[in-house]
Amino acid sequence: MNGFVLAIDQGTTSTRAILFDAQMKVVGSGQEEFTQHYPASGWVEHDPEEIWASVATTMKAALKAAGREASDVAAIGITNQRETVVIWDRATGKPIHNAIVWQDRRTAPLCQKLKKQGLEKKFTRKTGLLLDPYFSGTKIAWMLDKVKGARKRAEKGELLAGTIDSFLIWRLTGGKVHATDATNASRTLVYNIAENAWDDELLAILNIPAKMLPEVKDCADDYGATEKNLFGAEIRILGVAGDQHAATIGQACFEPGMMKSTYGTGCFALLNTGSDLVRSRNRLLTTIAYRLNGKTTYALEGSIFIAGAAVQWLRDGIKVIGKAEHSGQLAAEADPTQNVYLVPAFVGLGAPHWDADARGAIFGLTRNSGPAEFARAALESVAYQTRDLLDAMRKDWKGTSAKTVLRVDGGMVASDWTMQRLADILDAPVDRPTILETTALGAAWLAGSKAGVWPKAKEFAKGWALERRFKPEMDASTRSAKLAGWRDAVRRTLSVP
Ligand code: G3P
Repeated sequence: MNGFVLAIDQGTTSTRAILFDAQMKVVGSGQEEFTQHYPASGWVEHDPEEIWASVATTMKAALKAAGREASDVAAIGITNQRETVVIWDRATGKPIHNAIVWQDRRTAPLCQKLKKQGLEKKFTRKTGLLLDPYFSGTKIAWMLDKVKGARKRAEKGELLAGTIDSFLIWRLTGGKVHATDATNASRTLVYNIAENAWDDELLAILNIPAKMLPEVKDCADDYGATEKNLFGAEIRILGVAGDQHAATIGQACFEPGMMKSTYGTGCFALLNTGSDLVRSRNRLLTTIAYRLNGKTTYALEGSIFIAGAAVQWLRDGIKVIGKAEHSGQLAAEADPTQNVYLVPAFVGLGAPHWDADARGAIFGLTRNSGPAEFARAALESVAYQTRDLLDAMRKDWKGTSAKTVLRVDGGMVASDWTMQRLADILDAPVDRPTILETTALGAAWLAGSKAGVWPKAKEFAKGWALERRFKPEMDASTRSAKLAGWRDAVRRTLSVP
């Protein structure tokens, strides 16, 4: 059999399909952006039909670009924006409402109510998460409450719920399979990560009928096959993982203590803690890194909502750069004697502060501050936020050694200046791999290894290749002065200092 593997990367702003050959090289791809709906302040929705159409189109485009047919593909791996949730009709496959996106804050009042009832500890103990609108559970509850007749229909078994992977599996298999993987399940706020099962008590608190939830499988598992009439031949779906988990796999962070950080719109850092379910005392999340052959590997996760989005703000908001890739160059021209700090709390702050009400602030401006200082402050804010996560991880888990190396990927890592500053602020080496398509590669590896056409984990990990290591160069006193300035800026930005 040939070793082509097709990865579907269904992200927050675009869908990509990438075809890899037997040597794990990209041979064809397709990409499509889709509409972001903002029906009210703080609300973000996607049309599941538009997402589904973008998946079908990009899959066909990737095959076409490589001059291949569906029958050449050994397996599909799916990776997806996490937490975003869809409810659909079991009989027709039609969604009852737009997907509610992970960024959506509409369930903040429900989270507050649950917190006031003293329930956060219970949710955290069972799920590793916090009572924040970020996660799927309260979004499902909201749809069941607000869409007329939804809860009754769900109780009768007429409606199904799932994260984007589940919805796509349902559509790809022509309604034959309702499944998800353990990583996506671990982001729902109703999945018990210690027991690896949906949690009846949490489901009862949120009033979600268990029968609407998908079966939870390993990341490399049998998820059925695509309907023949979709692509001309059946293709088996053998891999599924949430995008940050797929990136952890794509970065070959298979050993405890290994850490990756992906710099997209936001930044998500995952530290592999092996079979240790580490309970954070510093407001990080505990999550399932991956589950393979029935064995769960856990991770500590730090989630930052604004990383690359700060560069977009430089370009589209205050218009000090024409292109995102100019940001590093401009930052390098900044006056080193100025101490300008940007706290990019544009949509509140994520880990470790979890302050939904904070808003962005800039400190230390002088009459000499200009575009270069703004650019440097924006890029440095990403480094400082990553440092806050690393510090929290070090406090939480003794396996985080002083020698921790950060493997990085995502759009922002192309900037040498930013990566050097990241290493300087972290006081830790930053490794940029040759392959930056780590999310898609991780999903493809799950499927390809399960199909038996790609190598097993150890062999795959050996293929991870370093493009460049950025070593810390900043002297210790400069670093600690800068960190003190950042911490002061954050303190002054928090809604409740
Ligand atoms: O938790 C949200 C995350 O999975 C979204 O990632 O890359 O689609 O913005 P991305």
